[in-house]
Amino acid sequence: MKIIQTENYQDMSNHAANMILDRVKTANNITLGLATGGTPPKKLYDLLVKEYNDRSVSYRHVTSFNLDEYIGLAKENKNSYYYYMYNYFFQYIDIPKEQIYLPDGLHDNPSVACQQYDQSILKNGGIDVQLLGLGENGHIGFNEPGSSFDEKTHIVELADSTREANARFFDDITEVPTKAITMGGISTIMKSKEIIMLVSGENKKEAFSTFLSTDVTNHFPASILKEHPNVTIIVDQDALGEEF
Ligand code: F6R
Repeated sequence: MKIIQTENYQDMSNHAANMILDRVKTANNITLGLATGGTPPKKLYDLLVKEYNDRSVSYRHVTSFNLDEYIGLAKENKNSYYYYMYNYFFQYIDIPKEQIYLPDGLHDNPSVACQQYDQSILKNGGIDVQLLGLGENGHIGFNEPGSSFDEKTHIVELADSTREANARFFDDITEVPTKAITMGGISTIMKSKEIIMLVSGENKKEAFSTFLSTDVTNHFPASILKEHPNVTIIVDQDALGEEF
C-alpha cells in the first residue's frame, strides 16, 4: 500500500487526476470504477475535463462503472449520482454513452439491477482502476460497517451517519434516500487491478487514523484495502492531522 501525502485538496486532486490520465492515455482499452461524493468528484473531474479540452485526451476506449446509486432517485434528480456524473464529467468528454454504467436506482426490481450490474462488470473484464473515497464510518462505496466482504453488488440500507454526512447535498435530511445500490460489495472492488483512494478534510481525520491503525475487519470496511496488492491512498494534510 502506497500512501501519498499532499498539502491540500487541490494537490490531492492533481495527483489523482495525473494518475488517471496516465492510465487512460497509455491503455488500449480501460475500465474505470468511478466515485461520487464530495472528495473525488468536483475538482478531480474538473481537472480531467480540462485536460480533455486542452490536450484532447480521448475517452473513446474507456468504459466506466460507478460505485453506487441511490434507490428511488430519477436520473434527472440533481442528487442522483447519474445526474452528478453527467453534469460534471460525462457530458464534456467523448466517452460513448453505451460504455457508461451506473446502478439503476429506479429499476422495478433492484435485486435484478444488482445482478445485471455484476454481469456487465464481468463482461467487461472487471475494473482496471477503481477510484474510492473514504466514508467517515469507514465505508467504501456504500458498503457500510458490518457488510460481508464476500457480497456482490447489493441493496444497502444507508447508515444514519452516512445519511447525515450526505444531507449537505440535499435541501433536507428527510430527502436523503434510505437505500442505495452499491457495487461489490467489497469483493468486486477488491478484484480491481488498481485502487486509488482519496481522503480529504478534517472530517476524515478520525476515519483515516482508524484506517491506519485497525486490523482488517468488516466493522471498518476500508481496512480490507490493506490486503490489495496495488493500492494508492492520496491524503491531504487536513485528513492526516498529526498521524504522520
Ligand atoms: C461515492 C461513494 C462513497 C464516498 C464516501 C465519501 O460514490 O461511494 O463511498 O466516496 O461516502 O464521501 P465524501 O467524499 O463525500 O466524503
